[in-house]
Amino acid sequence: MDSMTGYDIRDCALASEGKRRIEWADRQMPVLQLIRERFEREQPLKGQRIAACLHVTTETANLMRTLKAGGAKVVLCASNPLSTQDETAASLVVDYEVPVYAVNDIDTEGYHRHIRSAADIQPTLTMDDGADLVTHMLKDRPEDAARVVAGTEETTTGVIRLRAMQQDDVLRYPIIAVNDAKTKHFFDNRYGTGQSTLDGILRATNVLLSGQRLVVCGYGWCGRGLANRARGLGARVIVVEIDPVKGIEAVMDGFDVMPIADAARVGDIFVTVTGNKHVIRGEHFPHMKDGAILCNSGHFDVEIALGQLREMSVGQREARKHVMEHTLPCGKRLYVLGEGRLVNLAAAEGHPASVMDMSFANQALSAEWAVQHADELERRVYPVPAEVDDSIAALKLEAMGITIDTLTEEQVRYLSTWEEGT
Ligand code: ADE
Repeated sequence: MDSMTGYDIRDCALASEGKRRIEWADRQMPVLQLIRERFEREQPLKGQRIAACLHVTTETANLMRTLKAGGAKVVLCASNPLSTQDETAASLVVDYEVPVYAVNDIDTEGYHRHIRSAADIQPTLTMDDGADLVTHMLKDRPEDAARVVAGTEETTTGVIRLRAMQQDDVLRYPIIAVNDAKTKHFFDNRYGTGQSTLDGILRATNVLLSGQRLVVCGYGWCGRGLANRARGLGARVIVVEIDPVKGIEAVMDGFDVMPIADAARVGDIFVTVTGNKHVIRGEHFPHMKDGAILCNSGHFDVEIALGQLREMSVGQREARKHVMEHTLPCGKRLYVLGEGRLVNLAAAEGHPASVMDMSFANQALSAEWAVQHADELERRVYPVPAEVDDSIAALKLEAMGITIDTLTEEQVRYLSTWEEGT
């Protein structure tokens, strides 16, 4: 382990199980595989030190392999205390010589200690899912931050935080908003979150969704995907929104739309995917049905006001793994999944590999692009270049064996003229 700076994981003995799972995921990540093969030949990340703060999953492991193949020195820490797959972390350390700082179910202090350890590499590139690493760099390591070439950000919540940093003029290095790439949020947020959130709910509870009133709070890309997939399983879906355009979209997509105060009284299962805080809170809990299930698939564990629920509860016990029962003074029981953290990663395995293939292709190619353009970049948030985005879609289609049409010369001409009409 030549370049290893140290690591902190649950147990190296879990490595062989982790390796099998990483290889399984890799089979469904053909775009990332192609990038890895090219990176091996061309070494575009040679000399770079990459600190990544991402969910430690098999898909992330394949991204780490790709960055390493590109010549970078890589270190990984977790972007959520409950999402780490300990066997994946073990295999990364043992089989792939990637230092990892991540232990499933670690406390808040340990979580931040791990971010500090990853930052000790003095990165030239950072990769975030939620902007915790970049926040640490800005607040606690301004000199190191000034030397970072660029960072990438995986998720909507992180991009919102980074734009706020840019607005306040505290951003110290350029950021590529991977989340905003079309080949990321149209697919990962919609189909990935849609499916994996239901996967988390089902693994935690084994409830039948058919006939249940499932309340989706937030009709962004994640909410849209979730509402549609839940409908497909027979749930009677209610959407809660604050944006009038999204509200009308949900109505025209065929969902019931109402305020959370009304939805609270009728819902059987509640899922928050808003990116905001206290969407379901103290004033709503007493009106919920006995047995209501509450969970979150937004990045942070602030969407359900759990502190308020705990204060109101007269009893609390673990009903099943990942299911906490809260008894209210009136005797009603509410069930919170995965401590109100991302239920798809806490109680399941996150998005399937085939969709993370495109998300992480964006990460790898954005890192390469940032290195190539380091001299031109300013301290602001950049989109993933359109040609990178489009190339990922083309590669994905190719890997799926699907061909699409190209414009004829006549059509190209038609699109570039204003003279032809009725
Ligand atoms: N975010 C959502 N699903 C994920 C996965 N499988 N790996 C890494 N990050 C994720």
